[in-house]
Amino acid sequence: MKIFYNKTELNHRLNALKTNGNSIGFVPTMGALHQGHLSLVNEGLKKNTVVVVSIFVNPTQFDNKEDLVKYPRTLDRDVELLQSISEDSIIVFAPTVEDIYESKIQSQSFTFDGLEHEMEGAFRQGHFDGVGTIVKRLFDIVKPDYAYFGEKDFQQLQIIKKLVELHHLSVKVVGCPIYRADDGLAMSSRNTRLTKAHRSAAPFIYDTLKSAKYKFGTKSAKNVTEWVVEQFKNHKLLELEYFIIADTKTLKPVKRKSIKKSYRAFIAVYAGDIRLIDNIALN
Ligand code: PAJ
Repeated sequence: MKIFYNKTELNHRLNALKTNGNSIGFVPTMGALHQGHLSLVNEGLKKNTVVVVSIFVNPTQFDNKEDLVKYPRTLDRDVELLQSISEDSIIVFAPTVEDIYESKIQSQSFTFDGLEHEMEGAFRQGHFDGVGTIVKRLFDIVKPDYAYFGEKDFQQLQIIKKLVELHHLSVKVVGCPIYRADDGLAMSSRNTRLTKAHRSAAPFIYDTLKSAKYKFGTKSAKNVTEWVVEQFKNHKLLELEYFIIADTKTLKPVKRKSIKKSYRAFIAVYAGDIRLIDNIALN
């Protein structure tokens, strides 16, 4: 498996591949890979000759310094996992912070038609400026034909689609379903940092989302939201940060339900100091 630690070398390799008419898929990640990431890579391999997987813990998208410092970094294991899928068709790009940011570790400022103000944007200051900055930079370096993002971070997926639209980028963005553990917990690199007790408690998040979906069939968004808040009120291990039912397109919280619109429920929960997010389509 080829691993590139800087953009110049990666560019040489990709330019050679592109002149031969190969289609390039791209899966940007922050590493500590799990089955969720691998499902994106597999999706990419179906349509492209080569899939570039970037592994880069992007400092500008963390609003919490401790979260950045403690973010798991497991490059050797990540490479082994990718190798188990394909030896020849995957290229790993694991740049240094200097290679990406040079001497200025700073975000650009973006607008995404208001998508950036909702949910994760409201609770994590500067997060989507950081995501926009790194993804745009990585798109410029890799110049992929297709890029794959998980619905696990549904707001991020919508924002990347908007980034591509507003900046007239030529990449096609493909959304992929949420990959879950057998007990329903959405896979996340942060899950490895959960204590045993928090890990056992965490499937409650998806169980609650599924019940909320069922209730949304007959009840108002306000009703369902109050019910969810109540479920977490007395929970000993999980603390609800937000539960929001939003319009799938605008991500604005629903005021009055309409049968013509599509809705999704979004949740953020603290399990100790680990922040977990999840979401579910409601109709
Ligand atoms: P990271 O959290 O490593 O996720 C990389 C990609 O994997 C994202 O598109 C994310 O939505 C997807 N993913 C994570 N868990 C998933 C799951 N359980 N099922 C399906 N897809 C899943 O998201 C980021 O990194 C960063 O913000 C990044 C886009 C790389 C920019 O730094």
